[in-house]
Amino acid sequence: MRLLVTGGAGFIGANFVHQTVRERPDVEVTVLDALTYAGDRSCLAPVEEAVAFVHGDVTDAALVEGLVARSDAVVHFAAESHVDASLVDPWPFVRTNVVGTTTLLQAVREHGVRYHHVSTDEVYGDLALEDPRRFTETTPYDPSSPYSATKASSDLLVRAWVRSFGVRATISNCSNNYGPYQHVEKFIPRQITNVIDGVRPQVYGRGANVRDWIHVEDHNSAVWAILERGRVGETYLVGADGERSNREVVALVLELMGQPPGAFDLVPDRPGHDLRYAIDATKLRTELGWRPRRADFRDALAATIAWYRANEAWWRPAKAAAERRFAARDGSEPVGA
Ligand code: NAD
Ligand code: TYD
Repeated sequence: MRLLVTGGAGFIGANFVHQTVRERPDVEVTVLDALTYAGDRSCLAPVEEAVAFVHGDVTDAALVEGLVARSDAVVHFAAESHVDASLVDPWPFVRTNVVGTTTLLQAVREHGVRYHHVSTDEVYGDLALEDPRRFTETTPYDPSSPYSATKASSDLLVRAWVRSFGVRATISNCSNNYGPYQHVEKFIPRQITNVIDGVRPQVYGRGANVRDWIHVEDHNSAVWAILERGRVGETYLVGADGERSNREVVALVLELMGQPPGAFDLVPDRPGHDLRYAIDATKLRTELGWRPRRADFRDALAATIAWYRANEAWWRPAKAAAERRFAARDGSEPVGA
């Protein structure tokens, strides 16, 4: 199989490429990535020999058309992915997430290529803390941030291309990922690297917000299950029953790093901050037989902390710039400055 992976120099895409090279030697991988601030070619260094890399933009129609024409399937990870950044400047989100997805859809339509669209549970908005319900494939879309609104738009474009043009597409909406190679702007790596730097973790609001954590390898095994056995035109929710409040997560990070569990600061909240996400992955489990393999959060978080400790050379160059962006948003001094 010749597989085009967009966004393969980012967090989830790079882990997907590693896993694919490791487990599926019959797959020929080409990565298309624009290497934005969030992309880093060194994420692919361990598999450099095994994959072809194209430095380019998913909104470049001629480039995308040529690459899709030479592929049997496309897995589309490339996106602007950070909620906080989308609140400052939504335009790159509209361009990459909406225009980029449309560009890919036109190309897979023209060449009859199988397409898998990687999306987020944030398209469903949020749930109350005590609500017994979780998101399912039939939950109405209700995005809160510019990020989630552009991801919701891209999902709806995929559905339209399936219905109107018969594109062979599937969609997955996954909960919050963690693991190696996640950018230091995201919650878990930001706090791990703060603690390494002797800086107190920064938790928004009261820290009561709940995210449904899944290890990136489990997300990616679900993407493969859907690509191989998913029904065309269907959406599958991906989650591993990992609901935890931000306070609980940061306390566990601190404990695993030998700090007192209360050694964090509460900082001003994010505007429009979604309270809780929670995934019901019954469809994925029953229809495709998918199971998470890294569902022990404590163990997998400890492994992630060990990875950041061992790979400072990878994250260090991005850390100061990420903290400057956080500080510019809330008018404070960068932490660790
Ligand atoms: P990331 O920000 O770490 O990586 C995004 C990658 O896309 C980067 O390598 C970047 O250079 C590339 N990119 C950005 N704009 C591009 C463009 N115009 N053309 C080509 N490449 C471009 O993101 P991530 O966390 O790995 O997320 C990957 C996908 O998974 C996204 O679609 C995101 O919405 C989705 N998702 C993420 C999570 C999560 O917890 N991180 C959860 C569910 C779904
Ligand atoms: P994030 O990793 O940005 O993912 P998302 O907003 O897409 O869920 O944030 C995860 C949670 O952590 C979210 O509730 C916001 C919160 N958060 C903090 O409390 N402090 C931080 O420094 C960051 C980056 C996030």
